[in-house]
Amino acid sequence: MRIDILTVVPQLLESPFSHSILKRAKEKGLAEIHIHNIRDFTTNKHKTVDDAPFGGGAGMVMMIEPVVLCLEHLQSQRKYDDIIYLSPDGELFDQKMANRISLFQNIILLCGHYKGIDERIREHFITKEISIGNYVLSGGEIAAAVVADAVIRLLPGVLNDGTSALSDSFQDNLIAPPVYTRPAEFRGLKVPDILLSGNTPEVEKWRHEQSVKRTREKRPGMAD
Ligand code: ADE
Repeated sequence: MRIDILTVVPQLLESPFSHSILKRAKEKGLAEIHIHNIRDFTTNKHKTVDDAPFGGGAGMVMMIEPVVLCLEHLQSQRKYDDIIYLSPDGELFDQKMANRISLFQNIILLCGHYKGIDERIREHFITKEISIGNYVLSGGEIAAAVVADAVIRLLPGVLNDGTSALSDSFQDNLIAPPVYTRPAEFRGLKVPDILLSGNTPEVEKWRHEQSVKRTREKRPGMAD
């Protein structure tokens, strides 16, 4: 899968893809992440990417021209399944959406900044708008990293254990069961006996019961 991220602050996106699972996904050739600085597509000599809103008011608006030039540059090279704008008023991101996006070949993530982007970009170039929650971030970059992370870890081969993405919380509308590791006892705090029993079917049964219990407690309504 290829993900192209368009931003005016590329530095914000350096770290999330340089470590751990996402780094390994890139190294294995399972995910390609390309970060594009929208400023490189300006045609004015000051490399301006934002301007005051028509009609007045506070804040700046991301200009249409550099964004569209960048999008057209990418679209001339390959077809994209979705051109996604990260915005607090977009569709709320969840596991189901991550699963769906993970089946795509190529996607673009456009990060907004300032007061937002010129509405004509949303109307004519964006195919999907995603919000990662009902709060306002200072830009779309962290939201883009969240979406890319949730999607990339679902790609076949990214996680070492092929089953582990399927046993995540929210897959099957269930929250994952509690997990423990050594030592079996720490300052009198014990691991549940069943996990030390070696009885795999009983362990699986216990885990499922715990998942259902947790889901009822933490996300009532989700498992019904
Ligand atoms: N940009 C600013 N806030 C955001 C949010 N909550 N989700 C996605 N993009 C955003």
